[in-house]
Amino acid sequence: MTLLVTGGAGFIGSNFVLDWLADPATAGETVVNLDALTYAGNLRNLAALQGDPRHHFVHGDICDRALIDRLLAEHRPRAIVHFAAESHVDRSIHGPGAFMRTNIDGTFTLLEAARGHWSGLPADEKAVFRFHHVSTDEVYGSLAPDAPAFTETHPYEPNSPYSASKAASDHLVRAWHHTYGLPVVTTNCSNNYGPWHFPEKLIPLMIVNALAGKPLPVYGDGRQIRDWLYVGDHCSAIRAVLARGRLGETYNIGGWNEQANIDIVHTICALLDELRPDPAGRYARLITHVTDRPGHDRRYAIDARKIERELGWRPAETFATGIRKTVQWYLAHGDWVQEVQSGTYRDWVAANYAQR
Ligand code: NAD
Ligand code: DAU
Repeated sequence: MTLLVTGGAGFIGSNFVLDWLADPATAGETVVNLDALTYAGNLRNLAALQGDPRHHFVHGDICDRALIDRLLAEHRPRAIVHFAAESHVDRSIHGPGAFMRTNIDGTFTLLEAARGHWSGLPADEKAVFRFHHVSTDEVYGSLAPDAPAFTETHPYEPNSPYSASKAASDHLVRAWHHTYGLPVVTTNCSNNYGPWHFPEKLIPLMIVNALAGKPLPVYGDGRQIRDWLYVGDHCSAIRAVLARGRLGETYNIGGWNEQANIDIVHTICALLDELRPDPAGRYARLITHVTDRPGHDRRYAIDARKIERELGWRPAETFATGIRKTVQWYLAHGDWVQEVQSGTYRDWVAANYAQR
């Protein structure tokens, strides 16, 4: 049995591929991993699979219809798990074009290829085929402080070019199910953290900056709230939805872990004080409030009762265990951090932070 994963060299995708091939329930399967290796994709994340015949890496673009048609015909996957995306809100503000292309056109291209492939399958293969679309809670917009957490029926109110492009892709997936009967499931997850997280996002950026003695740039007052989930828990939720989710349904995934950014940064600083004390002083001295993100969503929170009720999924990690593991992972993977902080990374840091 084969799975086609898109974006499997990125943060969540690589965690998913590694987990999938390590779990005894799926370790006998093959993963075809299609990734364009943008700045966010990194084959180093998958080094443990080098030479493993169960992992077939394809360097290519989800907008390339001929390539996807060929991969589907050649490998006949039982499912497509679609992670590939431009995923960083700040980059979408600086340059939205790539987000429209990959997140909208790319998803459209995949859906059309999947539809063509699925409609020609024999009945037994057709019955089990799945298109799993990996999406985000950001499509729901921003919550007031006392508003209930996002359920699956919350209206779509995306506020950034990134979230608008993901919302568009969710609508395409929904339409391909309703119009053509394509067997889809969609998951909308909250903020992930964990190993292999590219250090442009809040948690890894704060860890690597602190270790380098650089300022810890907190946008605005730092009281914005996110609902943090350990990446391994996101992967286990996707597995549950892929195996048992109802067709055409969406499932929210979250950690029941709402925290303000400034509190997250203080937690990271305290862990580093314990695990890698800095002779120059406590890491929190590096915290610097900088100009806010334009259109910054104030609060996200996920109501994850549907996936728990229907599929029995709950996160395994608490934030305390997950963030400790994550900080330890970054302390043990200085080489990886150094490698990803290449020239283009430095260009991004200059573009995003110089004017703040
Ligand atoms: P990421 O930016 O780390 O990785 C994205 C991957 O997609 C990279 O490997 C990149 O090379 C690849 N890619 C980009 N454009 C491509 C294209 N045109 N063709 C093929 N591959 C391409 O992203 P992530 O954080 O791992 O997120 C994965 C998915 O999960 C995204 O769809 C994102 O919207 C969603 N998501 C992320 C989070 C989060 O907290 N990171 C939370 C919820 C949902
Ligand atoms: O909610 C799910 C989403 O979470 C995913 O769909 C996105 O792909 C993922 O990038 C993430 O989006 P956010 O914008 O919430 O993540 P980010 O890590 O960029 O920022 C988290 C919070 O921290 C946000 O309120 C902005 C703030 N922040 C971020 C950076 C990079 C700072 O205060 N300083 C920073 O330097």
